[in-house]
Order: sequence, then structure tokens, then C-alpha cells
Amino acid sequence: MTIAGSATSPQHNVETGKTTAYYQALDNAHHLHPFTTHHQLREKKPRVIERGKGVYLWDTDGNRILDGMAGLWCSQLGYGVEELADVASDAIKNLSYYNTFFQTTTPAAAELSALIAEKTPAGLDQIFYASSGSEANDTAIKLIWYYWNLKGQPQRKKIIARERAYHGTTIGAASLTGLPFMHHIFDLPIDQVAHIGPTPHYFEYAQDGESEEDFASRCAQALEDKILELGPENVAAFVGEPVMGAGGLMIPPKGYWQKIEAICRKYGVLLWSDEVICGFGRTGNWFGCQTYGFTPDILTMAKGISSGYIPMSALALNEEIATTIVNSDDEMAHGFTYSGHPVASAVALRNIQLIEEMGLVGKRGEETAACFQEHLASLGEHPLIGQTRGIGMLGAIELVSDKETKERFHPEGHAGGTCRDNCFETGVIMRAVGDTMFLSPALVITPDEIAEMFDLIGTALDKTHAALVA
Ligand SMILES: Cc1ncc(COP(=O)(O)O)c(C=O)c1O
Repeated sequence: MTIAGSATSPQHNVETGKTTAYYQALDNAHHLHPFTTHHQLREKKPRVIERGKGVYLWDTDGNRILDGMAGLWCSQLGYGVEELADVASDAIKNLSYYNTFFQTTTPAAAELSALIAEKTPAGLDQIFYASSGSEANDTAIKLIWYYWNLKGQPQRKKIIARERAYHGTTIGAASLTGLPFMHHIFDLPIDQVAHIGPTPHYFEYAQDGESEEDFASRCAQALEDKILELGPENVAAFVGEPVMGAGGLMIPPKGYWQKIEAICRKYGVLLWSDEVICGFGRTGNWFGCQTYGFTPDILTMAKGISSGYIPMSALALNEEIATTIVNSDDEMAHGFTYSGHPVASAVALRNIQLIEEMGLVGKRGEETAACFQEHLASLGEHPLIGQTRGIGMLGAIELVSDKETKERFHPEGHAGGTCRDNCFETGVIMRAVGDTMFLSPALVITPDEIAEMFDLIGTALDKTHAALVA
């Protein structure tokens, strides 16, 4: 595998003569961004990222930044893999587009389906395509409802999700999301969704003296209580991210998923694993459910499926759901213009093959994750840090004002925002949600790059400490 571009500083603005201010002015004039308070951005002006190579990004001022988040948890192979560029280019020249609606397929979509089915847990062998995690999740909601209609249980429509879950932003996916700030302004959630707490995050929600196992039982009991409250005959599915991502990078307590799986089986409730972040090696296996030892009935995936080179997502259905749908005389009247897009399929296919060939789910992946987790744990000594936690190539850092009592800074989010800005200034990207900092680097990151990343983070933490305690 070779990486496109040179290792030296980028040729920013040289060929075009266009400046950072030029792009910022256009952007401010015409661009509405996701998850943004626009008047603030327009005052501050966006940083303009123009190039990426491996784990590094460059902005239009020539600053090199080590991306500790792999974009938005998606670039498993890092930026600028020439082979994927060639695959996309060849695919576009060969067949830039055709659909999969009218009893047609393409070689890439057929081969990709077989390869994904090989990687998903046994039995989850039928694949449907979309272009984003949210679309895959909305598709899952519709197919779950359709399945229960076909099974003669049309009243089974409630889907149970968790407080602080993140499942995306389309109407169904945003409804499943358990973050109230994403609901109020859009009149969500829809009626068919119910949320449960406590969120399975021992650090924040365990009671005094409660063991991890007991906490897991309490979280699972909340699911059983909600099923009984709604009436088991009305509950269609339970959905969860194996490790909760955007809501706070929360790692489940020991035994949690086994207890959840047992409750779903007890009441015939479908178990749905949202693997949009956890898929494709992020937690050490192909999918997070394999890391945590449970078998879902439905699995949704996106991000790492194409390493973010091209929009692509999918869901895998188990035999029972798929057979019920396949044997129905109804037309399954659902799908997208870009379901199984030939170019996206070709890129995803080669991306997954490269993850395998490079051992990123395997020996190299294990060694990289061990090195990453060791560095992450060593940050725990820092006076600002109340806890570090991680699994595979996911890591979180809790910023606290008092290491012993774990008391937070006030107002909440100020420390996280300050730390995020200091990271950017120092040349490394960590994401902040409240006062939790996230890391999710490319799976191809080398030990030297990991060391560099944590050196930069250490500098950013020192600056943040100085700013907060001054
Ligand atoms: C677990 C999970 N599900 C769904 C989504 C939504 O994916 P997208 O932004 O591609 O719609 C995300 C995005 O971060 C996610 O983390």
C-alpha cells in the first residue's frame, strides 16, 4: 500500500492563489454546517482542512495536525491510500453508476455482500445497503416493523434504546438517539421509541459500593422493566452500540451484553447492534458484538466499511428476519438510489480486503491497540485526569478538577472545549463531549505516531491545566 502525496508541507495556495480567508468568506456566506451554532462559527471562522496523508491532516495555513479521531471515527486506513483512489477511479471509468432496484446487481455489490457476510457473526448473512449510518438505522427500523407485520404481530412496534445513545440524525435514528438536545428543537422522538437508563457507564452511574457486575444487572433490569411496562407483545427490538460512542465513549460494565441478550431472548425482542463506530476493527474484532460475545439479530454498519473514502453503509439481517422478508410476496418497497452504488461497493470491498491483508483485525491490530492503550493509561497520572478508559482503538479521558473526588470543572464543558482547542493549537485532534475527551485514531497508526500523538496530548493537557487552575 502506498500513500498519495509528499511527506513535506503541502503546496497550499501556491497553485490557486486562494487564501484561507477566501475559503472562510465563501463558507461563512453559504455553508450551513452539521451540529453547529452558526453565529459562533461565523464569528470564529472555520479552520480549512485541505489535505490528508496517513494519520496527518494539513490546513490551508500549512499546519500539520495528527488526527486522533480518524475523521469522525471512520478512517480505519488513514488518509490518502493510493490504491483506494485507483479502485475508485477504475470503478468510475468502468461503471460510474447503476442501481440495484430493477432486478440487477453489479460485480462489486455482489462480491461485497459475500465478504461482509463472511465477517459478520454466523447467521447474519443478508446485506442491504445505504449511504450513511443514519440511513442504515432508519432502514433497520422499517425492516423490523415490516418483519413483525409479516409475522402477524403488527402491534410490536416499540423500539427500546438507551439514554445518551447516538444513532444518527434522520427522523428514526435521531429518535433512537438518547440525547435530549437533539430532540427538543425537532419535535422528536417519535412515539414508537422508548429510552431507558441508567446508561451503562460505571464511572458515572454506579451507586456507592455497587460492583460492576451488580451495576450491569441494574442496567439490564431497566430493560426488563421497560419491556414489562410497555407489554412484551408491543416491543419490537432493543438497540445499542456495543461501546457507546458520541454520547460519551462509554464502555459497558462486565457481563452487560450477556444479560441484555438473555432478556431480549426471554421476551422475543429483536437484538440490534449499531456498529457504525464499533465495526471494522475498532474494538479489536470485525464487530463489537464479537468483542463483547453476543449475537444480534440485526447489525448496522457504516464509517469503517469504506474508511470514509466514500459514503457507504449497510445492515446485516439474520436468517429468520431475512427469510421472512425473502419469502413474502410483498415487494419490499424500500431502498435508495445509491443502495449498493458500484463505486462505493468497489471501494468498500478493497478497503475491507486491505484491513484484512494488513492484519488490522489480527496481529498488527492487537499490537497497535496494546501500544495505544498503554499510552492512554499512562495519561492517568496527569493532574487534570480523573479516569482513562479504552478498548481496542477507542480511548476516553475524563477531565476533572479534583483527582481524588472526581469533581468536575464548572460550568460543564468548559474544560473539554478548552482542551479541544489546545489540542488543535498543539497539532493533534481529540474530540470533546462535555468534559470527556475522545480518541479513535486510524488503525494504521504506527507506534512512533502513537508516541507522538500522546506527547502532543500531554502538551495540550499541560496548557489546559495552566489555563483552568490559573
Ligand atoms: C453509533 C452510530 N450510529 C449511527 C451514526 C450515524 O451515522 P451517519 O452520521 O453516517 O448518519 C453514528 C455517527 O456517528 C454513530 O456513531
